[in-house]
Amino acid sequence: PPASRVSLRVNGARRTVTVDNRTSLLDLLREHFGLTGSKKGCNAGACGACTVLVDGQRHNACLTLAVRLEGAEVTTIEGLADGDELHPLQQAFIDEDAFQCGYCTPGQIMSGVGCIKEGHTDSPEEIREWMSGNICRCGCYVKIVRAVEQTAG
Ligand code: FES
Repeated sequence: PPASRVSLRVNGARRTVTVDNRTSLLDLLREHFGLTGSKKGCNAGACGACTVLVDGQRHNACLTLAVRLEGAEVTTIEGLADGDELHPLQQAFIDEDAFQCGYCTPGQIMSGVGCIKEGHTDSPEEIREWMSGNICRCGCYVKIVRAVEQTAG
């Protein structure tokens, strides 16, 4: 099958790979780069478990073609902490007990970071609305929203 060479930055590191043109960013991260923090839930844009930032914007990595990312800057859950210091939203998820099974958590946190950057944090309702693409089967929504709210300050 047709393949292309693509150069991008992932969590600050420059990566160049040759991939099948149909490869999603999610498979690129998980299968080629071993970054398995981003989760494959539905693989169809419906659950948000694969949420990452591309050039600072939230994307469902399962719907994003890797070959479209020439020159892009991708941030995943693995790139969020500063050394041993967790990102404030990661810490807030722990403090607020905002997860149970944890499967959706990387996507929730990346989406929350995007939500804060975009300024959609004026009320719990607004946070919930702007994070409605992230599904939690354990039903931790109240605590997830609280963690985002606290971090947004
Ligand atoms: Fe991408 Fe569900 S795995 S939205």
